[in-house]
Amino acid sequence: MKAIVCTAYGGPDVLLLEEVEKPRPQAGEVLVRVHATTASRADCEIRRFEFPAWIWLPIRLAFGVFKPRVRILGQEFAGEVESLGDGATAFAPGDRVYGTTGIGLGAYAEYVCVGGRRGGSVVAPMPAAMRYAEAAAVPYGAMEALRFLRKGGIDAGQRVLIIGAGGSFGTYAVQLAKHAGAEVVAVDSAGKLEMLRELGADQVIDYAEQDFADGAGDFDIVFDVICQAPFGRVARLLRPGGRYVLANPKTSHFFRGLWTSLTGDTKVIFGSGAARDEHLRAVTELVEASELRPVIDREYPFEQMAEAHRYADTEQKKGNIVIVVD
Ligand SMILES: NC(=O)c1ccc[n+]([C@@H]2O[C@H](COP(=O)([O-])OP(=O)(O)OC[C@H]3O[C@@H](n4cnc5c(N)ncnc54)[C@H](OP(=O)(O)O)[C@@H]3O)[C@@H](O)[C@H]2O)c1
Repeated sequence: MKAIVCTAYGGPDVLLLEEVEKPRPQAGEVLVRVHATTASRADCEIRRFEFPAWIWLPIRLAFGVFKPRVRILGQEFAGEVESLGDGATAFAPGDRVYGTTGIGLGAYAEYVCVGGRRGGSVVAPMPAAMRYAEAAAVPYGAMEALRFLRKGGIDAGQRVLIIGAGGSFGTYAVQLAKHAGAEVVAVDSAGKLEMLRELGADQVIDYAEQDFADGAGDFDIVFDVICQAPFGRVARLLRPGGRYVLANPKTSHFFRGLWTSLTGDTKVIFGSGAARDEHLRAVTELVEASELRPVIDREYPFEQMAEAHRYADTEQKKGNIVIVVD
């Protein structure tokens, strides 16, 4: 089968189209013929190997010390069930499914195995009316936004600040927080603010023009996707008992967050735990009820994966970048 192989850690040109062995589903696994995947920020971070110091070593050991051991990136897929491993009964060949691959990655290929013992992989029937290219942009961002906001205790009537709202996590977080009945203030660059208003944000802030951390914020939850602003400046925007949810904490955020959780009345949340099929099913219901939709900036053909990553590296994307595999 064809796959995009990550031949070294580095820029987009390390991604090469190669012929590799087609995977075979093990017990409990589902072999999916991939129709679409995405070029996410997290894929780019793995390709560049750019991680904060406090998690650098464990991730390097997991992904390969000198060069990538996990050679096929890609965390989201939408496609068709091709075949099933022993004991996999939830799906049948031909079913239209979508999901995330978990720590094994592998969606940058014509086929990927998910389910069974593949750590962190999640697979569910995809929303009935969606194209594969739309569906591929849903699972990772929507599930993570859902799980982070739930951990933050999202509820009706709360004030929620979302920093880095215009990307994959953020565009879903804005919609999910509004769906929960919260008041949403969304922070991102100027070109994304109109889109954020359309997604339901009550107030939008261009971080280049206005210091969102200046003054009292009075927020119940701050969901910081990007974690560029200093911990203390953002934490003080929370009401007593508020939750500071960080998707991409730097080393200083991590240690200050631990200390604050232990000693203060702000709860600091770093991770969203293990994704499960039920999370994706919850997302699917919201999509089918038109309560949630993917924002897709660009679509690229499979052969132009390096080009898609080059665009993702600019960090200008609105929402998601989709790769059409077939
Ligand atoms: N902790 C966990 O368990 C966990 C799990 C999965 C993923 N993650 C991490 O979570 C992150 C997910 O990000 P994503 O996919 O949503 O990224 P994304 O699509 O790149 O979105 C990030 C957004 O932040 C904006 N931005 C950049 N600098 C900013 C600033 N200073 N202030 C406000 N906004 C700013 C960017 O826009 P402009 O560039 O135009 O400004 C962009 O719209 C990744 O880093 C991933 O590794 C964490």
